[in-house]
Amino acid sequence: VYQVYPRSFADGNGDGVGDLVGLTRRLDHLVWLGVDAVWLSPIYRSPMADFGYDVSDYCDIDPVFGSLEDFDRLLAACHRAGIRLILDWVPNHTSIEHPWFVDSRSSRESDHRSWYVWRDSRPAGGPPNNWTRMWSTEPAWTFDDHTGQWFLHVYLPQQPDLNWHHADVEAAMHQTLRFWLERGVDGFRADVVHLIGKNEELANFVGPGSDRPTSRQISGSYGHVLLQRIRSLLDAYPQRPMMVGEVVLFEPGQVASYYGNDDELHQVFDFRSIKSAWTYEAFRARIEESQKELGDDKWGTWVLGNHDNPRQRTRLGTEARARAAAVLLLGLRGTPYLFAGEELGLPDAVVPPQRQLDPAGRDGCRAPIPWTAEPSHGWGVDPWLPFVEDAGRYAVAVQRDDLSATLHLYRRLLALRRSSPALRCGRQELLDIDEPVLGWIRHDGSDRRVILVNFSAEHQRVDAGGVVEASSDPMRALGSFDGSLAADEAVVIEVAS
Ligand code: NOJ
Repeated sequence: VYQVYPRSFADGNGDGVGDLVGLTRRLDHLVWLGVDAVWLSPIYRSPMADFGYDVSDYCDIDPVFGSLEDFDRLLAACHRAGIRLILDWVPNHTSIEHPWFVDSRSSRESDHRSWYVWRDSRPAGGPPNNWTRMWSTEPAWTFDDHTGQWFLHVYLPQQPDLNWHHADVEAAMHQTLRFWLERGVDGFRADVVHLIGKNEELANFVGPGSDRPTSRQISGSYGHVLLQRIRSLLDAYPQRPMMVGEVVLFEPGQVASYYGNDDELHQVFDFRSIKSAWTYEAFRARIEESQKELGDDKWGTWVLGNHDNPRQRTRLGTEARARAAAVLLLGLRGTPYLFAGEELGLPDAVVPPQRQLDPAGRDGCRAPIPWTAEPSHGWGVDPWLPFVEDAGRYAVAVQRDDLSATLHLYRRLLALRRSSPALRCGRQELLDIDEPVLGWIRHDGSDRRVILVNFSAEHQRVDAGGVVEASSDPMRALGSFDGSLAADEAVVIEVAS
């Protein structure tokens, strides 16, 4: 699944902000690359305090991205190309400008008052509990002078939390899913979905550092009930839509619990790998843990990059490691999520203070995609964020002409994954190989592939044979495996059954 951050992908009208027409025109890139599905970060009407994760109308397209007609054309083009389209759904909070919230804050008696989480001050004064909002030490509450109560916002003050205990909220949010399902979308990525079932007590967190709402499982069992009802809704549609949930929880078993009994989320993001150090121990532990938690019947996810985190090239420090990470990501059992631009090996952009826009400092990974070598890189005017340094060198057009480029590595890995049942959906076992080479086998009947990742900066020898089908090292000649791995190299090897 390829994640498109729409502002940064491709600009169809030359205003410097990516849009749906731009994406539709560049769909050939995704067809050529060989992805199965696109997850589109929010495109709904929004004041853009959090660049679309603050929605003021769930059933319309923000004019900066285009229109509903542009969307329908994009969806049709995706389907013609055999690509599925997954929308981002933001159920935990709306924008402060959403008509529901505007009404909610207008009076304590308003019809929508209890659609949001309103509380009185503590008896001694001050916010209702000790929660602080994300990316800040400020309270997760804002006092509304007009009605004399506080509203909860786990994120920005412009993102008030919905009250999912209110049946009308649930019904209205279900309607937003139906709206897009009836237009034909193939599924949703559900934003911080573990937060929708917060229990109504909203008790103080206790203990050091535990004031951050997302650091704890605050949804309790009600979140699971809500997800079961969402699942029933999805299951009733003929396109068999899927939902992948963003669950920002890190304790063992928490992510797995959101699959329910195959009656909640179809997939759950597991962010433990994005937080893992690039070491043998860390990834061995991650793979073991994930196999143990998911077993054979749950289908996991692998996420090494997205619009909230530094890019792999920046995080891992070298191009060689970023390329090895591509082999790792596409060699594991589970759905790989690939953030647009990773296939180009982009680093983060260095964004000067006067151009910084994101309240949480995430601009660097959101730099626009360079399509061509010339200075405008396929964008009309200077885009909303600066390009990465030396962007021309990473441009799609430049890499397409260079078979040793990272772009071709991703394309090759995706093609292998598509053609090999073992890589696509086979079982997985870790191999007994010593540090620093991590190895695992994927197999499906007689189809077998071994993946080896050298986590060290030194050349290594491995007792294995077979045919190398892909390597992160552009210097390697594909073919019979001689048992040697270059520094930071990762390979896919076809082995006899
Ligand atoms: C997670 C999203 O990925 C992030 O970009 C956003 O800021 C928060 N949820 C709040 O919606």
